[in-house]
Amino acid sequence: MNAVELDRVSKWFGRRDGAPLHVLDAIEIAIPEHAIVAILGSSGCGKSTLLNMIAGLVEPDDGAVLLNGIPSHAFRDWRSMTYMFQEDRLLPWRTAAQNVSFGLEAGSLGRIERERRVEETLSLVGLAGFRDAYPHELSGGMRSRVALARSLVTEPKILLLDEPFSKLDPAIRAQMHAELLRIAELRAMTLVFVTHDVEEAVVLANRVVVLHPRPGRIAEICDIALPYPRDPLSEAVTEAVRRLRISLSSARG
Ligand SMILES: Nc1ncnc2c1ncn2[C@@H]1O[C@H](COP(=O)(O)OP(=O)(O)O)[C@@H](O)[C@H]1O
Ligand SMILES: [Mg+2]
Repeated sequence: MNAVELDRVSKWFGRRDGAPLHVLDAIEIAIPEHAIVAILGSSGCGKSTLLNMIAGLVEPDDGAVLLNGIPSHAFRDWRSMTYMFQEDRLLPWRTAAQNVSFGLEAGSLGRIERERRVEETLSLVGLAGFRDAYPHELSGGMRSRVALARSLVTEPKILLLDEPFSKLDPAIRAQMHAELLRIAELRAMTLVFVTHDVEEAVVLANRVVVLHPRPGRIAEICDIALPYPRDPLSEAVTEAVRRLRISLSSARG
């Protein structure tokens, strides 16, 4: 069963002056359960729009988005999916634990179970000792861990990530990649992430969807069968990166 399926999805955005902007054209992607899929493309090519459509935040103008085989307009189990945004969007007046708890407050869990889940998730991301710290007391990497914990606390089956580590230093970023892979496997999640960073796509994903811009369309879908963990300096990874860079840049000329 595919966790997510995009069936010839197209999107236009209205413009006050002039013709509508054609953002995505006939996008067709099947994402099996437990897959780790990267949507790779340059800035402005429609990656966030694509992720927003999977999340049910934006309606496709043509084609359909299917979640567990159900058209997204009829899908009801939205709590099985969470979204990690490009900015960490932590609430500065809340501690790490209170920020993580935020993801559960709309749900039906009692206080004790909520607190248990928050503690468990903070431990999962390596922040057990920082539950009472405020965001301004935390490093960029730790804030990113809090944001990840907030996304995980509802125990989603599908995690959508929109360039969530793009502002981190390379070393911290590599740590977050390793954490994410460990947790995805532990929790048997499906990951769909968008990135403009070819190396990030190759290190994390088992399938990379290359988008070309204006309008966003699929240039190539590339399966990456290398074993984890993937060393960015290894020959196999650098070769895959080189190949995808060519595929990515061939639209720009
Ligand atoms: N709500 C919107 N209304 C109008 N135009 C939009 C809207 N959202 C995005 N766009 C435009 O659609 C294009 C793709 O945007 P986006 O999906 O954010 O690209 P990416 O995430 O790949 O950088 C851009 O030209 C952007 O300006
Ligand atoms: Mg974006």
